[in-house]
This record gives sequence, C-alpha cells and structure tokens, in this order.
Amino acid sequence: MTEPAIGIHDLSLATTHYRLDLATLAHHLGTDPAKFHTGLGQDAMSVPAADEDIVTMAAAAARPIIDRHGADRIRTILFATETGVDQSKAAGLYVHGLLGLPSACRIVELKQACYSATAALQFATALVARDPTQQVLVLASDIAKYERGTAAEATQGAAAVAMLVTADPRLLRLEVPSGVFSADISDFWRPNYRSEAVVDGRASITAYQKATVEAWNDYRRHGGRDLSEFAAFCYHQPFTNMAYKAHRHLLESTGAAAGAADLDTALAAAAVYNRALGNSYSASAYLALASLLDHRDDLDQRPVAIISYGSGSVAEILSGVIVPGYRNHVRTAANTNAIDLREPIGYARYEELHDPELPDDGSHHELPAETSGPYRLAALTGHKRIYQPTG
Ligand code: HMG
Repeated sequence: MTEPAIGIHDLSLATTHYRLDLATLAHHLGTDPAKFHTGLGQDAMSVPAADEDIVTMAAAAARPIIDRHGADRIRTILFATETGVDQSKAAGLYVHGLLGLPSACRIVELKQACYSATAALQFATALVARDPTQQVLVLASDIAKYERGTAAEATQGAAAVAMLVTADPRLLRLEVPSGVFSADISDFWRPNYRSEAVVDGRASITAYQKATVEAWNDYRRHGGRDLSEFAAFCYHQPFTNMAYKAHRHLLESTGAAAGAADLDTALAAAAVYNRALGNSYSASAYLALASLLDHRDDLDQRPVAIISYGSGSVAEILSGVIVPGYRNHVRTAANTNAIDLREPIGYARYEELHDPELPDDGSHHELPAETSGPYRLAALTGHKRIYQPTG
C-alpha cells in the first residue's frame, strides 16, 4: 500500500485592527523613510488593539478553516508562539473554547522563538502519518515587540496563521527529508520578566545566515533536492530584506550565481504580506507561504522551500510540492482584506498601545471594545483572561 501524501490542506491568516505606517514612525524618529522602505523592505507594521492578543488573532485565523472543513476529525491543536499569555495554560485552550471545538482533542503550546510553527508542522505530519483519518490544526500567532526608540522598533509586527494538516492535502505536500540546525546562542531572547525582546541586531543577522546554510547542508546530506529545482523560497521574514540577504548568502555558499531578477522570482511573491504586516515571529514563514500561493499561479506540481529560523537558535529547511489546482483553495480575497482593512494610527496612539497599563494583582479590568475581528479579550479578572466573540 502506498503512503498517503501529507501536508497543508488549508491556510488562513489574521492580523490586528490597527497598523502603523513606517513613514509615520520615520517622521517621529527623524529618520529617512527610505531606510525602512528600501533598506529593510517594510511599509507598515500591524499593531494590536487593546482587546487583541495572540489568542484573538489565532481564533480569527482558524475560524474560516473550521467553517470550511468542520472539526470532527481534528484531534490535536498545536499552538506555536513566543509571546504566550500564560506560563502554564496553552493558548490553544482559549481558541478551542472560542471556536466550540470537540472535547475529544489534545492541545499543547510550543516555543522556540520564530521556529516553533515548523516543529508543530513536523509533529502534525507525524500524527497524520500514524492515522491518516485524523487532522491537526496548527496555529502560529505572535506579537513582535521591541523597546521604543531602538533600532529594532521598525521591525515589529503581529499576525497569526492557521493551517490544517491532513492526508491528501489540497495546497502543499510536505517531503522528506528536511534539514535542521541548532546552536545555543544569544542573538535574540526575552527573559520572563520582560514584555519586550532583547536583541543583538547584527549578531542575529549573521546567526540567521549561518543557520540557513548549515540547515541547507544538512538537507543536502540527507538527499534533499538541488537549489535550482525550487520554484520559490518562503523565508522567515523579520523584515523582508532579510530573505534577500539570507538567500544571497545561501547562493554564495553553494557557488550558485543569482542576479536581481532571479532573486525576485524566487522571493518577491512570498514577501508581499510580510512587507505590510511586519515580523510575526512564528507565523512569518507561513505568511510567506500564503503570500506566495496568493500571488503566483504557476506553481502546480513545483517544489518550494520553507526556510524557518528562530533565534537562540534553531533553523529548519522544509521542502514541499504545490498541489495542482491549489489556486482553487487559496484565500486571497480574505487575506488581502485582513491586511487592507487595518486602521492606520498616529504615533501617540501607537505609543499608548505599546505600553498598556494592565493590573497584575487580579483586580477586575475591562478592555475597551476596539477590534473589528470576530473575537476579543473582554476583561482580566481574578487573574483570568475573559475572551468573547464580538458578533
Ligand atoms: P539598524 O542598525 O538601525 O539599520 O537596524 P542599518 O543601519 O543596518 O540599516 C538597515 C538597512 O537599511 C541597511 O541595508 C542600510 O544600508 C539601509 P543593508 O546594508 O543591510 O542592505 N539604509 C538605507 N536604505 C535606503 N535609504 C536610506 C537608508 N539608511 C539605511 N536612507 C536591524 C537594522 C535589522 C539590526 C534592526 O532593525 C534590528 O535589530 N531588528 C531586530 C532583529 C532582527 O530583525 N534580526 C533579523 C535576524 S534574527 C531573526 O530573524 C529572528 C527574529 O525574528 C526573532 C525570533 O526568532 O523570534 C528577530
């Protein structure tokens, strides 16, 4: 009996109610906006409303998948994040409750900086291989936040993706092998007592490039495809030019030459959403995949690579083959709407939202109703988080 193909059957994204244009940030900082637009390759960043967080974004991303496919076969929810809302309880439990999913389900949260959604995808694939009648809901949701006034401020952002992993998928069939690399380093991290990450920007770029090459070498050692076989590359994008830097570095390390046009063919379609949303940590490489599927119609039966990097650090290179007919199952209009309908805000409002004053003594605190998304964080009370549908 032949093994069924396993991979991503459906993919949906969600982001925040607000956005800060990087031109607004540049104006406030007295920086040339070209540094952000051209130098980093970023136009805007998503900013969560007071009543949004990783749970509301993840539930909003998952809702259309449940509406389309039902939840009867979902027995596992894997929630990837590095901006978790609780040290103990998995954020996926709130999503499970909000979406009214069956109780016959296991739910767990995974963390390793921006990498963990890739681990979730691998674990999901293994579960489906064991029992192809089951489906796994993989959620990746993060809010990238740095101290205001630092060089990293322009690389903030927020978004979630939801992916349904199944046998005989309609979007992407994942392949074996993948390539992996890990190294214990401190390029970016967030101690438990901080709400913002600490980062050594230059070191993180070098670490990302080195990890990509090492993961690629591991992929090749295990019999992976030649670089020239891939139609496109979906990199983790802390800022979109990082994908270009890393890909150039990878090409140089393999002795391959690539001009600007080749780089654009390989990378540009996967950068459209990240350019508008900013860094979404664990979701970023899969936003790149959504962006690629929404912006190219020539990928039937062609291999694409997903290149995942999480500081600290772990990298993995996945390869997958795009399923013929994928364009009939993408969510281009909904994805574009989620991005385009964000409300632009000025610096003063962004500043308030960046540093909210929330009680940590268990007292009752209601959040203002701001989000236009389907779910909101309504209150904090008795150290509990109270989520509600908005509709
Ligand atoms: P910086 O040092 O202020 O910026 O911060 P810069 O001086 O390096 O300039 C950036 C680019 O803009 C440069 O281009 C400049 O030349 C160009 P490059 O040389 O790199 O090609 N530039 C201009 N271009 C046009 N017109 C101008 C102009 N001025 C300058 N007028 C830095 C940049 C990325 C370091 C900072 O934003 C930062 O620290 N960000 C956070 C860290 C980060 O994103 N690291 C990426 C790799 S690590 C990673 O991806 C993991 C992560 O997602 C976390 C996780 O895993 O959880 C971060």
